[in-house]
Amino acid sequence: MTLTFRKLHPLFGVEIGGADLTRPVDAVVFGEIRAAFEEHSVVLLRDQPIDDAQQVAFTRLFGPLETTVSANPAGGTAFARQSNLDINTGVVIPPEDRRMIYQKANYFWHTDSSFKKVPALCSLLSGRLCPPEGGDTEFASLRAAYAGLSEAMKQKIETLVAEHSLAYSRSLVDPTVLTEAQKAEVPPVQQRLVRVNPINGRKALYVSSHASHIVDQPFAEGRALLDELTAHATQPAFCWSHQWRQGDLIIWDNRAVLHRATPYDAVKYKRLMQRTTVAGDAPTVTP
Ligand code: SIN
Repeated sequence: MTLTFRKLHPLFGVEIGGADLTRPVDAVVFGEIRAAFEEHSVVLLRDQPIDDAQQVAFTRLFGPLETTVSANPAGGTAFARQSNLDINTGVVIPPEDRRMIYQKANYFWHTDSSFKKVPALCSLLSGRLCPPEGGDTEFASLRAAYAGLSEAMKQKIETLVAEHSLAYSRSLVDPTVLTEAQKAEVPPVQQRLVRVNPINGRKALYVSSHASHIVDQPFAEGRALLDELTAHATQPAFCWSHQWRQGDLIIWDNRAVLHRATPYDAVKYKRLMQRTTVAGDAPTVTP
């Protein structure tokens, strides 16, 4: 199997051709995909009509899978289901349903599982049913964002730590969307503002909609800094948007990119995206 590579954006992202993820992927091919992931932060593979078992098998090559929080319709499994279809009946979920409101938080720029003490390494999103318009996923390079900071700002944030929680990001949509039990499942955690890739040493600006404030700073001061850094990180020059086709698979590096979903007509069209998430191997803050 010979792989081909095509850059998606001048700063990050690559499309890989020539792979077939419906079959077991050998170590040589996986080595090339993993190296591309470390280098480019976002990897697109088109025409991969995989099922859940094939997605899990491929995801496991990156490391152990996370278990999804119970607030997601697929909670307790290896999948985070991003969909307007009921998981049991396949019927379109009404827009006012809690499951649709919960997903609206995906419209904020975020990095997956930064609300866990050990945040995620990467996510794999498989397009199973894609609307003909809308429902794109956007990505922003946090390495480009870090490199684009002034030296004074780099020094200022080098040792800063932010508090992240699922309760905070969901409260931006609706403070009642999580039950107390769902909040208690993932209590607030701390993450450094600068996250380093252990393989190539490259630094990324680790912001996310899960980050509420900066530890040991007045809330409003830290909030203003996080808003300023997020606006910097998501400026158009650092962003790339993907229009989905059924069978697309995107792998992204949660250490190095933000992503967000974009709206679509969820009454008219069906959308089913299956996400698997690979656990990271260490917290960003050590005691
Ligand atoms: C996600 O935020 O994990 C999913 C993004 C999407 O549904 O486009």
